[in-house]
Amino acid sequence: MKTYFYIASSINGCIADKDGNTPWSDEDNASFMAFCGKIGAVVMGRKTYEEYLTLPSSDWPNPEHTTVILTSRPSLPPNGFKIILTPDGPQGAVSVMSKLGKKEIVVAGGNQTWTSFMKEGLVDEIFLDIEPLALGNGKALFQGADFNIQLEFLSSKPLSPQTLQLHYLVKK
Ligand SMILES: NC(=O)c1ccc[n+]([C@@H]2O[C@H](COP(=O)([O-])OP(=O)(O)OC[C@H]3O[C@@H](n4cnc5c(N)ncnc54)[C@H](OP(=O)(O)O)[C@@H]3O)[C@@H](O)[C@H]2O)c1
Repeated sequence: MKTYFYIASSINGCIADKDGNTPWSDEDNASFMAFCGKIGAVVMGRKTYEEYLTLPSSDWPNPEHTTVILTSRPSLPPNGFKIILTPDGPQGAVSVMSKLGKKEIVVAGGNQTWTSFMKEGLVDEIFLDIEPLALGNGKALFQGADFNIQLEFLSSKPLSPQTLQLHYLVKK
């Protein structure tokens, strides 16, 4: 299974402001959606999923995608998403996707979910969209885990004059 992280970040590595808001650009959102569309298999944490449920449906990853949600809850409202829940963390999500014949997944956050995948070494490539924002007291990309993972820079491209996308390979 090839695992991609797709992350939008402030210049100081925050994935949301202190109140959990994600003030990212339309270009980042469009690029994220297009990438999810290409891969067709998305994994996210329960809290991120619940945020999607509050957004207009045009801001969701394509509801036709298979979306696996990490959660200990027995059920969540599907609201048009094709969702599968797993209580078994990253390994559980990978196992569900493998059984469905998926060869690639996009891990779409949030912090706890990306941190769990990092801790388990289940990440191959990272796309990081840097937005022109500095967020004091924001939510850090990774938290509560001690790892030191070496990356190789692959490429960068502007998504707009304001937003830069960085692409990294995880060294194994
Ligand atoms: N900038 C970006 O690109 C981006 C992208 C996505 C999200 N975000 C932001 O990130 C924030 C949400 O992140 P978050 O860290 O609070 O929550 P999260 O990772 O979205 O969800 C956390 C929940 O997922 C489940 N979970 C996570 N890891 C697990 C594991 N290893 N095993 C089992 N269950 C696991 C648990 O659900 P249960 O409690 O149900 O058991 C946990 O409470 C929001 O503010 C959101 O806006 C930013």
